[in-house]
Amino acid sequence: MTKVDFKLIDSILEKYGCDKSKIIPIMQEIQAEYKFLPEAALMYVADKIGETYAELYGVATFYKDFSLNEKGKYVIKVCNGTACHVRKSDDVQEALYEITGMKPGDYISADGLFTIERVACLGACGLAPVCTVNGVVHPQMTPDKMRALIMDLREAERS
Ligand code: FES
Repeated sequence: MTKVDFKLIDSILEKYGCDKSKIIPIMQEIQAEYKFLPEAALMYVADKIGETYAELYGVATFYKDFSLNEKGKYVIKVCNGTACHVRKSDDVQEALYEITGMKPGDYISADGLFTIERVACLGACGLAPVCTVNGVVHPQMTPDKMRALIMDLREAERS
């Protein structure tokens, strides 16, 4: 479970003067730090700005860019837009599930390293099929390239 640094949350709140009308940028900054919105952080913020947790939860679930689920260190987005789909992004995704031991619906791999997201067009159709890892584009992916990429990331974690 993610440990929330309340001093960090305080500094974010201070930057916005604990102003409840600034709740979106406050939550964006928290998410930028943790890659999701930890419940403890939202409860803390709600208390500090004089809102209810339910109110903040409502905001978090209304905007699809917010996530309430913990994410892995590496967030892998697999494009499912038309160009990527036609160029077999499904096979790339299957390889990704296989090598991470994850299945559809899982938010995070057992080792805490990976989160897989199926997304619409990433805007790089000429490089299809495309994946991103923490925002870095990986073009013309194949199942083998995806397996090698995951092995490299695991190796980097060991060194
Ligand atoms: S369809 Fe995948 S980048 Fe556009």
